[in-house]
Amino acid sequence: MNKKYDVIVVGELNVDLILNKIDGFPEIGKEKLAAEMTLTLGSSSAIFASNLSALGAEVAFLGKIGKDQFGELVMESLRRKGVHTELIIQDEKLNTGATIVLNYDEDRAMITHAGAMEHLTLHDITAGKLSLARHLHFSSYFLQPGIRKDVGALFALAKRQGLTTSFDMQWDPAEKWDMDYGNILPSVDIFFPNKQELIELTGRVNMKEALHALGKTNTIVVKMGSEGSVLWKDGQDFSLPAFLNNEVVDAIGAGDSFNAGFIFKYVSGAPLEECQRFGNLCGAVNTTAAGGTTAFTNYRDVLKIARERFGYEE
Ligand SMILES: Nc1ncnc2c1ncn2[C@@H]1O[C@H](COP(=O)(O)OP(=O)(O)OP(=O)(O)O)[C@@H](O)[C@H]1O
Ligand SMILES: [Mg+2]
Repeated sequence: MNKKYDVIVVGELNVDLILNKIDGFPEIGKEKLAAEMTLTLGSSSAIFASNLSALGAEVAFLGKIGKDQFGELVMESLRRKGVHTELIIQDEKLNTGATIVLNYDEDRAMITHAGAMEHLTLHDITAGKLSLARHLHFSSYFLQPGIRKDVGALFALAKRQGLTTSFDMQWDPAEKWDMDYGNILPSVDIFFPNKQELIELTGRVNMKEALHALGKTNTIVVKMGSEGSVLWKDGQDFSLPAFLNNEVVDAIGAGDSFNAGFIFKYVSGAPLEECQRFGNLCGAVNTTAAGGTTAFTNYRDVLKIARERFGYEE
């Protein structure tokens, strides 16, 4: 059956206000100056949606923002990348979330006002909306208290509507790792933790034990930075080295770009190994430019970077 969207992304949306070249650390009662400032679309889910759309998939976003200027910036930035925004809920009683990023060389201090993203609930997501797409991706479990307890139900609903599914839980800022994975993962086709997140979630000492601890699941893809990724299916693991980039600009969004590359191939019906390889490639391409979305303009240009920087051939 022909669907309107290839992928529906359910997740958090916010803006990032990034301050660079700051003349010292913040101090109560004093004022510091930052020589550079950028206001941009933030959020892991938005980077995923933007880059997947740039690669050529039809992507719709379902999330919650305020009816304010930051909300307009979010909508406009997604539309510019070709992401369908008609399912985004703008609530005039809520603020669009924002993160203030204070950049000090390699390190950053961040303060987030979560705002509307905390108020997305399962009631906002209907079977009718999900059934517009062939695949559901959900990200950033710990940042969305309004929907957390119902994520298992969300994925089960998607499966009943015939969608394939993927899930990137991301880091838990509270570091409590309170997630009932036994309830969620059976309805998740592709689970995308990074290595540290997987170990924290399961409380095991290494990746192999952590993978076993998750029990019988579908496919788990573990992201490992410059070491590439491991795909785990039916009790077997397949490692693929990274397309190593020795001149990383920054790694912001590398994980989301990996997910985008993987899912781009997955929804086109490619075998899992090809999905994993293209995920690694898109993670590496992400590191060749500043921020999470700059390197992703369209499929042709991504492949051009891939050829020139990493010797990639299709
Ligand atoms: N220096 C690098 N060179 C080449 N590829 C890289 C590099 N860093 C990351 N990647 C690729 O990007 C993928 C995802 O990166 P990473 O493991 O950092 O994900 P993550 O921890 O989920 O990131 P995020 O902070 O965006 O959530 C890796 O599996 C790898 O394929
Ligand atoms: Mg990640």
